Amino acid sequence: MRYLDSAKNARREETKMSEPITISSLKVFIKKPKIHVVSFGCQMSFADSSEMAQSFLDKGFSSGESLETADAVVISTCTVRQHAEDRAISFIGRLRKWKKQKPHRLLVVAGCAAERLGPKLKERFPHVDLVIGAKSIESFSKIIEDVLSEKFDLASESATDFPQTPISTQGAAACDFVTIMRGCNYSCSYCIVPSVRGREKYRPVQIIIEEVISKIEAGVKEITLLGQTVNSYQSEYQGKTVKFPELLRILDETKGLKRLRFMSPHPYYVTKEMISVFRDCPTVCNYLHLPLQSGSNRILKMMRRNYTRELFMEKILMLKSELPNLVLSTDIIVGFPTETETDFDETLSLIKDFQPAWIYSFKYSPRPGTLSSTENPDDVPSAVKEERLARLNNLAREIGRKALQGKVGQTVEVLEENENFGRTRDGFKVKWKGGDKSVGEVHSVKIVDASDFLLIGEK
Ligand code: 5AD
Ligand code: SF4
Repeated sequence: MRYLDSAKNARREETKMSEPITISSLKVFIKKPKIHVVSFGCQMSFADSSEMAQSFLDKGFSSGESLETADAVVISTCTVRQHAEDRAISFIGRLRKWKKQKPHRLLVVAGCAAERLGPKLKERFPHVDLVIGAKSIESFSKIIEDVLSEKFDLASESATDFPQTPISTQGAAACDFVTIMRGCNYSCSYCIVPSVRGREKYRPVQIIIEEVISKIEAGVKEITLLGQTVNSYQSEYQGKTVKFPELLRILDETKGLKRLRFMSPHPYYVTKEMISVFRDCPTVCNYLHLPLQSGSNRILKMMRRNYTRELFMEKILMLKSELPNLVLSTDIIVGFPTETETDFDETLSLIKDFQPAWIYSFKYSPRPGTLSSTENPDDVPSAVKEERLARLNNLAREIGRKALQGKVGQTVEVLEENENFGRTRDGFKVKWKGGDKSVGEVHSVKIVDASDFLLIGEK
């Protein structure tokens, strides 16, 4: 069941978080309790959930593979689109039984939806022990301390206060994320992020370096730097201001790092200096995700994106001429309020010029409190949104297929993420037959075929 019946209700019911909300609960002492973390949403939400898991591990928990064995569950929520929030809400509802089975269990709801819904979440779901909004993630470790010591018998180490302490990765995967900044200083009219995550906050360079090193030492080969507008990063380091391109140059020196990626950059900060980093730094992968959102100048203005289609295309042409091997992808929202067929055609025509290898496409979803939701009715009918989404996806598939077909016959470098599966440096997914299974290794794979969104290879 949906927690909020409609966007209108959601607006009325919205309550902003200030302090984390707790309830006192049973005191049951368990040795080596298990933590299980579930993430609903984007890479930022996933990275946040890893951090939260680490706080529990630092305090003496072990990691639980399943809900059934877990003594504590953290749900990392997202509210960027209604759909993501609905999924998290319905999952929280399903955990009623889980909590009832063993009432000592601890249920923590964190992240962007927790920030937006605040105390309403506790009222609606009394089985939730703790609600911690996205703005409090940096004090997560301190916040859970009291609740944990009340409930569990922990061989506790001193509490860590992210982001000042690097996070060590246990049982590391080949690829991992490092959050370098949180929040956003933009105010795109459809976007809820600035209100739930606040303004930009940058992690110190030294901490980022240490976290990257600790992940590499634990076996990670590829790091993706995360931030809402990741390339607006800047921080003081050794007496000077380090901006994003310089941060990439610094991290590129990390011993053992094979690949460096980042998500998501803002077009405004795509500069000549950033481009030169792709050329100079061997670890920086030749792939760039650059969100466009719409190809109509009228809609871009209503979205408050601070660029026109001409300016966006100027950046794309600069990227393509300076970096011929760069692969690009983008985000598009269809059905923004007042979007006409002409506006949508402009999006399609820009996509044809732009030729992104793939597109993350979204139907506009009015988010409570955002400018577009308060100023404009969500007036593009759902069926029209669906139809536009399908046309956009067909075009994306066509362009993607061409890019994939272009790889057939080539031998590409793939980092094995799962058995016989990985990605090329320019971001294409590859599945292959043959060769030893060795997750974390870089392989040369001959591409023999391509299906939608996937290259097929042989070793
Ligand atoms: N409706 C639909 N899509 C949205 N996005 C952000 N807010 C909304 C919204 N209200 C999309 C944008 C953004 C991506 C992360 O999510 O395309 O780049
Ligand atoms: Fe949202 Fe715009 Fe900030 Fe991206 S740049 S997080 S879309 S406000």
